[in-house]
Amino acid sequence: MAQRESWATRTGFILAAVGSAVGLGNVWRFPYQVGEYGGAAFLVFYLLLIAFVGFPVMMVEFAIGRYTDRNPVGAMKQIGSGVWSKIGWVFLVAGFVILSYYSVVAGWILQYTVIGLQGNYAAGGAGAQFAATTGGLTSVLTHAIFMAAVIGIVAFGIQDGIEFSVKLMVPAILALLVGLAVYAGTLSGAGEAYAYYLSPDLGTMAANWTEILPAAAAQAFFTLSLGMGVMITYASYLGEDRNLAKDGVIIVGLDTLIAFTAGLVAFPILFTADLTETTDGPGFIFVSLSEAFSNIPLGGVLGAIFFATVSIAALSSAISIMEVVTSYLIDEYGVDRKVAVGALGTAIFLLGVPVAYDQSASLVWLVVYDGIANQILLILGGLLLAIFVGWFATDLGLEELDKGVRDLGAWGQAWIWILRVPVIVLLLVVLWQNATGV
Ligand code: PFF
Ligand code: NA
Repeated sequence: MAQRESWATRTGFILAAVGSAVGLGNVWRFPYQVGEYGGAAFLVFYLLLIAFVGFPVMMVEFAIGRYTDRNPVGAMKQIGSGVWSKIGWVFLVAGFVILSYYSVVAGWILQYTVIGLQGNYAAGGAGAQFAATTGGLTSVLTHAIFMAAVIGIVAFGIQDGIEFSVKLMVPAILALLVGLAVYAGTLSGAGEAYAYYLSPDLGTMAANWTEILPAAAAQAFFTLSLGMGVMITYASYLGEDRNLAKDGVIIVGLDTLIAFTAGLVAFPILFTADLTETTDGPGFIFVSLSEAFSNIPLGGVLGAIFFATVSIAALSSAISIMEVVTSYLIDEYGVDRKVAVGALGTAIFLLGVPVAYDQSASLVWLVVYDGIANQILLILGGLLLAIFVGWFATDLGLEELDKGVRDLGAWGQAWIWILRVPVIVLLLVVLWQNATGV
């Protein structure tokens, strides 16, 4: 069999992982979660979970991927026995579901880029504009266009497809978003917006933590691309000599910074525009933000730049999910990459059609897919990984993390103990709440 592929450079791996992490989760999902769950109160829980749950679980995925050099299903077959050898399937199912609706939302983002370029967003009619965007054949078409782009990139493989494209995409996302945040800071509503965004209300936190915590946990997994084997897959293309923890800090840090920056773009624009419509939930950036764009000078151009940035970010995330399922067919069945990507990409496209075609105002299909994937599958995946390495494959994990560090010492023990008790207990509680509350 042909030699397995690998990253050409360390930067290539980091950019690919950052590209995966930074996406709709940061710019579309994060701001509306903040809005729905009490502003800065949500932010505090989210940051704690990123550091104490997200980062340790990312290290688990890196260790398993690099140790096995395999796709998530094959990796668990290689190192797990009994049920553990089967848990890779959770990741594959999650990948299918997430990419299928992620691509639909990305298609709407593409439509909004074009609307901005054509002039401006509908002043006073942002809700109607969003309703016209979602559902029906146009939405299926933009879903198809986005999936075609994903398939096209992943078909070229690790170095010529993913690594090459993220080297262009990730710097572009960073530059565009920082530029937008600086511009947003000059708007008249900026001061008021920062105050709303940045001062946590301890009362809200105490009163609603049972709702905020599970939502923040789901967001933490989603935003870091955890719990479905993306980081296992990407680390499987890595050499032995790298310090996984150091790369992880960069990846987690950049993702968090970008989610935060997205808020610095969105909230000043919202506060500056005299909004006639505001929407919470999945329509947030489409309705409220585009309404705001329609009320500020050069809003169309600005909006087009914003939505183009989001499109790029979505693409660099979507290719990572595509790579998870593709690597499974390549590793386990020796299927040709192009054939694997084409077949799986088509299947994922079809799975997303109900979400794309759905014309209900409440976006029922989207909410259901998002709920299954984020509130159940990703959390379950993360929980299983934490139990597996925390209790059963401890040595494997520690040895792998130690490579490229040489003196992990107490850090390694801290990592294992965080996984063993707090992470597991917390994820069990969250899973229980989500499973009974959905
Ligand atoms: N992390 C991506 C985002 O924030 O948009 C979404 C994502 C990618 C989730 C890959 C899960 C995944 F496996
Ligand atoms: Na993210």
